[in-house]
Amino acid sequence: MCGIVAYVGSKPAQALLIEGLKRLEYRGYDSAGIAVMHAGRATVVKKAGRVANLEAELASRGPLAGTMGMAHTRWATHGGVTDLNAHPHRDDKAGIVVIHNGIIENYASLKTYLMDKGHRFVSETDTEVLAMLIGELYEGGEGGLEAAVQAALREVTGAYAICVMCEKEPDTLVVARKGAPLMVGIGAGEYVVASDASAIVAHTTQAFPLDDYNVVRITRNGFRTSTTTNVAVTPKVMQLELDLEQIELGRFEHFMQKEIFEQPAALRNTMRGRLQAEDGKVVLGGLSALAKQLVRSRRVILTGQGTALHAATIGEYLLEDLAKVPAHAEYASEFRYRNPIIEDQTVVVAVSQSGETADTLAALQEAKDRGALALGVVNVVGSSIARETDAGVYLRVGPEIGVASTKAFTGQVAVLALISLFLARRRYMSADQCAAMIREMQSIPGKIERVLEQDERIKKVAEKYCERENWLFLGRGYNYPTALEGALKLKEISYIHAEGMPAAEMKHGPIALINDGMPAVFIANKGRQYDKVLNNISEVRARGGHVIAVATEGDAEIGKVAEDVIYVPEIDEPLSPMVTVVPLQLIAYHAAVLRGHDVDKPRNLAKSVTVE
Ligand code: G6P
Repeated sequence: MCGIVAYVGSKPAQALLIEGLKRLEYRGYDSAGIAVMHAGRATVVKKAGRVANLEAELASRGPLAGTMGMAHTRWATHGGVTDLNAHPHRDDKAGIVVIHNGIIENYASLKTYLMDKGHRFVSETDTEVLAMLIGELYEGGEGGLEAAVQAALREVTGAYAICVMCEKEPDTLVVARKGAPLMVGIGAGEYVVASDASAIVAHTTQAFPLDDYNVVRITRNGFRTSTTTNVAVTPKVMQLELDLEQIELGRFEHFMQKEIFEQPAALRNTMRGRLQAEDGKVVLGGLSALAKQLVRSRRVILTGQGTALHAATIGEYLLEDLAKVPAHAEYASEFRYRNPIIEDQTVVVAVSQSGETADTLAALQEAKDRGALALGVVNVVGSSIARETDAGVYLRVGPEIGVASTKAFTGQVAVLALISLFLARRRYMSADQCAAMIREMQSIPGKIERVLEQDERIKKVAEKYCERENWLFLGRGYNYPTALEGALKLKEISYIHAEGMPAAEMKHGPIALINDGMPAVFIANKGRQYDKVLNNISEVRARGGHVIAVATEGDAEIGKVAEDVIYVPEIDEPLSPMVTVVPLQLIAYHAAVLRGHDVDKPRNLAKSVTVE
């Protein structure tokens, strides 16, 4: 939720930290702050608002000297969006400075304990409690800060990724993690710590992710990794596979726009090496060792939040339809708390772009504890969910920076289609049928390109309706989740109220909302329920609603009932959401831009929700 970057080395820290913050701003952007250590003093500067506000403040003060420091971009959990509540936070005793991502759940009782000890708090945050606790436990001496952090973390419940400095140990940075991502990049005589790789790759490609309960003490001479109980740990250093180009805008105005347009290339990457049309085979390296177990599975539960849940719902249809295995998709936040029954031979599939969503991770752990085999459909390599699963298939769509998920959605649907075919072929599907589906899969990137070519026309549709405050998105079958996703995209970035639902459900209440001029977007491509969708369109028209239809090229009927039609190439229904969603993404994008919103940083949202 929040972005963390820290530096230990010989270069001036401030410029490097601000550059890192800009790369991380998509993780949270309601306030930003920095602390730089110099001559035994940590100077803290923090401001509510975007990183640009912090930069302006720093410019007016003159640059901070120092070659070690840390910076933070915040998404508020405890305490409002104010300068005081922004990170870093200090203690009032030992010269401790802390930045933190996550939530300290027992902060209230710790705060009472610390207040009884005479500590005075200036902010409303749980992070300040952590800073005070570390200060209270700090005993000085060699490794004093490391020991104090370990001791404090043994008292804490909740989730955290933290960086800590201490004015009494001005050459030491201590970082730790439980339940929120953090990695240490190892350069030549320097270290860059960050909540994700995008703030590291400009400096080094060697890095190691922290495991839960890991604490790393870093100085310019090296680092030591241990647990909160001070057991030494050997970290697994890996090569970051991320190009700077992938995290830069290039010719696009927004990351969301870039990522919508990247979908054909991203999906080609998702499928590369995984499809063998000649043999009617899907090859998934991550699943091959478990193939026998998976083929015998009796139930699949797919879980996720937001866009990932919409993709998971399409996965439910695909698995039942193609692989003939009972499947259902469910919000991770509901699943984890409702005492679910996990029968023998159940597989749980966690779907997540970031691999860090707190509810999805917890649902996965709950299902594993109850005996399920755990699979991940994840984009970020080495993320918490990826590490927690027994096996999985990565999306390979590249880093997604726009807060509104786009290419991850099509990537998730593509991977779920691959998994369905992988199982289908081993259960009931013939090689010929599978080969036909594979060829259809291979045609998708080209078909998305044909939709993207209509960007200008789709923008005109957005222009026509973007002032309307209430929209409906309606679809049936495989495109019911597409309707949910279209509505979510519009809500997230344009702040227009939109509801997505099965087209038939409209008659059971929402039809009462339809008045003169309300836009209703129908996904009306050719499929099993096409005629029924046409009926629903007529029902909306009869009540004065405006119909925007996403329809199949060559459909002569649809123009007679819908005012605006966006044509997409013909595609097999089970795979069609990967194509039909694209006009909906573009409508949302253009509507938000036309309404003057910051598309990549929509209000109140965060890219990755690591709190429940
Ligand atoms: C947040 C994001 C959504 C995303 C959801 C799940 O709400 O704003 O875009 O769909 O989290 O994220 P995940 O990383 O698990 O796919």
